[in-house]
Amino acid sequence: MLNRKDLLGLIDVSADEITEILDLAEEFKNRIRKGEKKFTHLESKTVTVLFYENSTRTRTSFEQAAKYLGATEINIQAGTSSVAKGETLVDTGKTLDAQRNDFIVIRHPMGGAPYLLAKTVKASVLNGGDGINEHPTQALLDMLTMRETFGSLKGLKVAIMGDIKHSRVAKSNLFGLKTMGAEVTMYAPQTLIPKGIEQLGAKVCRSREEALDGADVVMGLRIQLERQQAGNFPSLGEYAANYGVDEKALALAKPHAIVLHPGPVNRGVELTSGVIDHERSRIEDQVLSGVAVRMAALCLLNERRAKA
Ligand code: CP
Repeated sequence: MLNRKDLLGLIDVSADEITEILDLAEEFKNRIRKGEKKFTHLESKTVTVLFYENSTRTRTSFEQAAKYLGATEINIQAGTSSVAKGETLVDTGKTLDAQRNDFIVIRHPMGGAPYLLAKTVKASVLNGGDGINEHPTQALLDMLTMRETFGSLKGLKVAIMGDIKHSRVAKSNLFGLKTMGAEVTMYAPQTLIPKGIEQLGAKVCRSREEALDGADVVMGLRIQLERQQAGNFPSLGEYAANYGVDEKALALAKPHAIVLHPGPVNRGVELTSGVIDHERSRIEDQVLSGVAVRMAALCLLNERRAKA
């Protein structure tokens, strides 16, 4: 039972809770594949999507999830709301609570912002990505695609390659995958490896070959140019040549290995076009997993709210 008011990160979510979300998400995904788009689980509920950072996938999939479940969905663009006039996050939250919102999905550039909002409001808060901290529903959708491919997450070797330092996706995947019994290896320039990541359970590799050897899953992460204050590597070309994944590098992984990327992708930087469009790429499948996982998370939090 997802026994929490909010879904803020995977750092403290148990294996049973992750399994419950993935089981329900798999059911929704299969039904969507068959063309179903109308469900009644969230009828008479309101879901507000409050994003302070750009997004394509996360925003639209939460919107789709809310609409498929029959909720009223409201979309707030921080740039055109009273946030632009200086309203605090706490005051925005109080306003949304006064309007009897049931769920608030927030993306914010500051790590911890969803935690502050969750403490303030009665609505259930879902973290759509906070700074470089966590992006829990992204990791859950990644795990759904992996579990569908391999049947189980236990014992899988997942190689995460790219801008790990600035990646909330890497951290949520590390927490979730370790909880589910997978092995996580990471490779990037030393300047893009966050201090202490090994204490959290990641194996940091010394070479691309070591990271990819025997991998079941190769996950590329975007080089986050907007978060690079100092140059962390000499040039994008040198990054791609030394740290990126091309088809030759992909061949180091297991023959059945799949390729994932949370998107948006810098084509030719973290992954070549040949890898992005490879028959083993599951990047498009991840997008459908995203709708299903967000439906499942909303439904399970709603069940918990009904019992509270
Ligand atoms: N993966 C992801 O968070 O993508 P968006 O920034 O488009 O939401």
